[in-house]
Amino acid sequence: MVSEFANKCVVVTGASRGIGRQIATDFGAAGACVVVNFAQAAGEADKAVNEIIDAGGNAVACQADIADAQAVARMFELAHDTYGPVDILVNNAGANRDGAFLDLTEEDWDRVNDVNLKGPFLCSQAGGRQMMAAKRGHIINISAVTAVDARMNAANYCSSKAGLNMLTKCMALELAPHVNVNCLALGFIESPLVREIYSDEQLAGIVGETPLARMGSYGEISGAVQYFASEAASFITGQTLIVDGGRIMR
Ligand SMILES: NC(=O)c1ccc[n+]([C@@H]2O[C@H](COP(=O)([O-])OP(=O)(O)OC[C@H]3O[C@@H](n4cnc5c(N)ncnc54)[C@H](OP(=O)(O)O)[C@@H]3O)[C@@H](O)[C@H]2O)c1
Repeated sequence: MVSEFANKCVVVTGASRGIGRQIATDFGAAGACVVVNFAQAAGEADKAVNEIIDAGGNAVACQADIADAQAVARMFELAHDTYGPVDILVNNAGANRDGAFLDLTEEDWDRVNDVNLKGPFLCSQAGGRQMMAAKRGHIINISAVTAVDARMNAANYCSSKAGLNMLTKCMALELAPHVNVNCLALGFIESPLVREIYSDEQLAGIVGETPLARMGSYGEISGAVQYFASEAASFITGQTLIVDGGRIMR
């Protein structure tokens, strides 16, 4: 059976590693044409591209700091020139610069908000223009449960993700009826990022208070992204789905 993502033009930001890489390679395996965005890790982005091509898909790597409007404009031109108008945009790239509130610098605040909030704004504007012209499209934002459940030493990160949740609703309103915009608020996903922030003991405690009694996997996030990008979710827009094993229920 031909996948519904076959030949769709998909842009995944922050796809050189982690969750974004899994999202990109899964779309590639489903026959999509994938733009693998990265900031610095060119070698890893090339590996992701080769993985997709080896699996029979199409992909191209694209270096662009998503906080840089000109770089974003170039990336969406490349996507359009290579694969046609963008069908699916996954705003996945994210940054952390944790610190006690009173010690956070203006630079820590700006950089995290630039990557986590301004980046999705710039990418969605550039991608959204192509989608509106084609009268179809899906934007999926990758947020965090910390957008609604504050985390210590992360005022910049939590605030940026709360902004992303609201940006999801505003874009869903303005890009309707052609473009569906949704958001995933992730809980604890087994990843280097989580291992960097939390000790093993803290993670054991977190798993202990999670009904599904474990952290999530990259594949489980990629699956939820594909659901939002699919026909099965065609009547859903402006929503934030919490994907956290049931830890936060609200
Ligand atoms: N891991 C979790 O448990 C968890 C929980 C909640 C939410 N999230 C969210 O899920 C998303 C992915 O997380 P992850 O753990 O997979 O992160 P990660 O392993 O740190 O990967 C981040 C990716 O974003 C890219 N990136 C960073 N800054 C960028 C920029 N300015 N422009 C373009 N790309 C940039 C990186 O590219 P380079 O490699 O080139 O630097 C990398 O590919 C993030 O939005 C994060 O906030 C994760």
